[in-house]
Amino acid sequence: MQQTKFTGPERVAIENAIAGRKSVRAFLDKPVSRETVEHLLRVASRAPSGTNMQPWRAHVVAGEAKDRLSKAILDEFLAGGMARGKSEYKYYPDQFFEPYQSRRRKVGFDMYGLLGIAKGDAAAMSRQLSQNYTFFGAPVGIMFTVDRRLEIGSWLDYGYFLEALCVAARANGLETCSQQAFAYFHTQIREQLAFDANEVLVCGFALGYADWSAKINTLETTRSPVEEFATFQGF
Ligand SMILES: Cc1cc2nc3c(=O)[nH]c(=O)nc-3n(C[C@H](O)[C@H](O)[C@H](O)COP(=O)(O)O)c2cc1C
Repeated sequence: MQQTKFTGPERVAIENAIAGRKSVRAFLDKPVSRETVEHLLRVASRAPSGTNMQPWRAHVVAGEAKDRLSKAILDEFLAGGMARGKSEYKYYPDQFFEPYQSRRRKVGFDMYGLLGIAKGDAAAMSRQLSQNYTFFGAPVGIMFTVDRRLEIGSWLDYGYFLEALCVAARANGLETCSQQAFAYFHTQIREQLAFDANEVLVCGFALGYADWSAKINTLETTRSPVEEFATFQGF
């Protein structure tokens, strides 16, 4: 792709695509073509990676394949599989601490508050959680995997790739939700999508047109100010 100098409106559009991204948890029943998904993956694959190793691998499902996958996961979820199913990697520490504990509590509190789910209403929380497994109604689901023989650096590369995909989706009028909730069901997913033995599920991903009339999509998350996470010297 050619190197370009951006005009003022283009700069604003690019910044909006990044800063206006949010995790969407209700999608319209409107299809997304295979060509569109291929295009987005092609754009995102321009993400940098250490020594250009490009560790990403995508298993894309729509239609019946997606429904079959969702059913296999939901059957296991409803049978209590979340507690049984261990993620193949550790996303969170055993013990949360500040400032991370407060941040994660806030997003949970805000989301359940918005949906009118009372603290301790385990059944309602579980129902909301289960929406993950139908990709929140998105027409396209993606399972991203990485080769387990690779190191943490490749997982760092993965982050660049996934964010590039989120932004490319928005440039095309589509929205996304990254979904770690799938990690607990890697056994069912592996079986359904015939992963190679060395593939580890990194996360699931919902892709589609947002249903902006859905309450859940009005959730706004906050960010700490730059002064809190950056120091500057020599300016
Ligand atoms: C790798 C990753 C996994 C995530 N997993 C889930 C998930 O399983 N379910 C969900 O509803 N949101 C999930 N999220 C969304 C986060 O909760 C969300 O990014 C965060 O609260 C900030 O909100 P925002 O994306 O709307 O800016 C995930 C995000 C990332 C980056």
